[in-house]
Amino acid sequence: MIVGVPRESFPGERRVALVPAVVPGLTKAGFEVAVEAGAGAEAGYPDKDYAAKGARILPQRADVFRSADVVVQVLCHGSNDKTGKDDLPLLRRDQTLIGFLRPLGTLETITDIAGRGVTSFSIELMPRTTRAQSMDALSSMATICGYKAVVIAADTLPRIFPMLTTAAGTITPARVLVIGAGVAGLQAIATARRLGAVASAYDLRPAAREQVHSLGGRFVELPLEAKDAEDASGYARAQDESFYQRQRELLARVVAESDVVVTAAVIPGQKSPALVTREMVAGMAPGSVIVDLAAERGGNCELTCAGEKIVEHGVTVIGWFNLASTVPYHASQMYARNMSSFLLHLVREGKLRLDRDDEIVRDTLLTHGGEVVNARVREFFARPALAAQSTGGAT
Ligand SMILES: NC(=O)c1ccc[n+]([C@@H]2O[C@H](COP(=O)([O-])OP(=O)(O)OC[C@H]3O[C@@H](n4cnc5c(N)ncnc54)[C@H](O)[C@@H]3O)[C@@H](O)[C@H]2O)c1
Repeated sequence: MIVGVPRESFPGERRVALVPAVVPGLTKAGFEVAVEAGAGAEAGYPDKDYAAKGARILPQRADVFRSADVVVQVLCHGSNDKTGKDDLPLLRRDQTLIGFLRPLGTLETITDIAGRGVTSFSIELMPRTTRAQSMDALSSMATICGYKAVVIAADTLPRIFPMLTTAAGTITPARVLVIGAGVAGLQAIATARRLGAVASAYDLRPAAREQVHSLGGRFVELPLEAKDAEDASGYARAQDESFYQRQRELLARVVAESDVVVTAAVIPGQKSPALVTREMVAGMAPGSVIVDLAAERGGNCELTCAGEKIVEHGVTVIGWFNLASTVPYHASQMYARNMSSFLLHLVREGKLRLDRDDEIVRDTLLTHGGEVVNARVREFFARPALAAQSTGGAT
């Protein structure tokens, strides 16, 4: 079975789906790896390193798609809304596609993919279970984003992070507030602490309290109880506007006392809740920084401009997205390990297993045989459920 790795085509994207280090493991399991020339160059993985590990380098993108049984990408059509469509004609019926497909984005893009007849697996739909942990690329990328958000904030803030007692006086530590202590938020806390800041965090999921404490952060207690804070998968549930209104009122003081606010509060498939208002930004000290990791889906801060850095009321609000791509070496390394675990899980004895009794397969399988087959995605887009799928078997 040939795994094809095309060069990422989203403008500015620097990651690559597989790195040379995972090639020998895949080869041992019976895969051949075919990489488009230059695919890893931007991430620090030259062609010769892939070749040295036994991968074949193909000069043309079309050749990678033509020869591959499985195409592995980072941003596929769907999550790549700029150039992803160009790959559609290159996909064919008996092929498998794995990557970020933005399954809860638009029905049109997923239908496009289904229309090509490919069997696609959307990595965003990986279950958040111990068994699937090694394949959870969403967590890997969130880890990188949380780290980078704090590094950007530290670079932008006109203060240093750690407390210093020097002959020239004492410098007080920076105060970093994280709103939304999921994977990215927790890594932001850990990074802020490592740089010497005083870190605190708020999340509506009660379980986050202990995780924040374990990283040396302070949990911001708000006299506010979320209804059904999390779903069965551990994701936050959207709350009504009166909840968000109250949350904003209660957070205003904490935000005003912070030098840096990292917002990472998202609800899967929905617009992110607006938690930091213009007035709250105006209440921060000049020079303060907000890094909004939810920028791509509307942002948690009212002033966030998606993809931009702006300064208002003396506060810098950064709404850059795709931060994982700005740390391409390690983002690719983590993504590649997730992908190779997933490939080894999916393919046995050279055959793709489509065992729907396996929740990893069932949850991530997005399109098959010309249809959008994923139950969660069909429900999200209010499409009628499909008849029960046969279990087991291989294609
Ligand atoms: N293998 C595993 O078991 C595994 C792996 C990864 C994540 N998880 C869990 O999955 C869950 C989701 O993690 P994620 O990082 O993907 O989350 P996410 O990116 O979907 O959301 C980020 C955080 O924002 C929070 N949030 C949403 N609305 C908020 C609001 N109004 N105010 C404050 N916070 C708000 C959420 O509770 C979440 O913690 C977490 O419980 C995490 O621990 C489990």
